[in-house]
Amino acid sequence: MSNIAQKAYAAALTWYLDNGVDEALDGAPFDRTKVAANVSILQRKSGEEPASISGLSQAAKPSSRPASPDHLPLGASDARAESVKLAQAANTLEELREAIAAYDGIALKKTATNLVFCDGNPQAPIMLIGEAPGADEDRIGKPFVGQSGQLLDRILNCIGLDRTERDPAKSIYISNILNWRPPGNRTPSPGEVEASLPFIERHIQLARPKIIILCGGVSAKALLGRTDGITRMRKLWHGYQPQTAEFQAGAEIIPAIATYHPAYLLRTPSQKKAVWADMLMVQEKRKEINIL
Ligand code: URA
Repeated sequence: MSNIAQKAYAAALTWYLDNGVDEALDGAPFDRTKVAANVSILQRKSGEEPASISGLSQAAKPSSRPASPDHLPLGASDARAESVKLAQAANTLEELREAIAAYDGIALKKTATNLVFCDGNPQAPIMLIGEAPGADEDRIGKPFVGQSGQLLDRILNCIGLDRTERDPAKSIYISNILNWRPPGNRTPSPGEVEASLPFIERHIQLARPKIIILCGGVSAKALLGRTDGITRMRKLWHGYQPQTAEFQAGAEIIPAIATYHPAYLLRTPSQKKAVWADMLMVQEKRKEINIL
């Protein structure tokens, strides 16, 4: 390969990485060696010359492979019905973790390395909910352990909270809307959020926090059932109630505040003051409900 071609390939890979494409994955496992084999069989049958992979006929391209039962995820409504059923049956956090691990309604499970369920102190009166695990969280199996998690820890330390604290009053409990990493850290799809919502809502019911911090737009929209952007939703107290109809009966209203995601702050440090204002509101609420 010439130097110029090498540079071009390196530049293309850097561009993919910059755009979050850091995994060579299809939506489901796919054995490309079989495509090449099938194509040459087809070609031999029809007497054609072997074609390069990029010149495959539409019928032989990976995206048009016939769907086998292994490739078909549950339909969206089945996936949601199944997650509601499994979440309802879980009566402890450990049972919920097991239910999520056993759930096959989200294809992300096949591409992720670890289930990311929680970190911090489940007795803490404050629960923080982010979006989805990234590469570091997927590797380690805990939420917010990468660069944005380190910034989050520093923010929480400023209001006297530390996820490693044994004293619940000084600790925090952390989870995400999704428990599996979307490849390349892409934004979760609406279907993935819908299928995961019953699990995080049951998670909230079992952890019984007194305050919820919603970290980023995906989390705020999903749990508040809103379509507004995060900028409109922050700076206010919301009353969180389950969006999942099956969990609404007798549910307590929990004060919830939405704030910017630390990954956004890493890209836009000028917004740190906005998050500080949100954290001061959390302090006020802690005083008001006697948990400070
Ligand atoms: N971003 C999130 O929203 N959650 C994590 O756990 C890590 C990064």
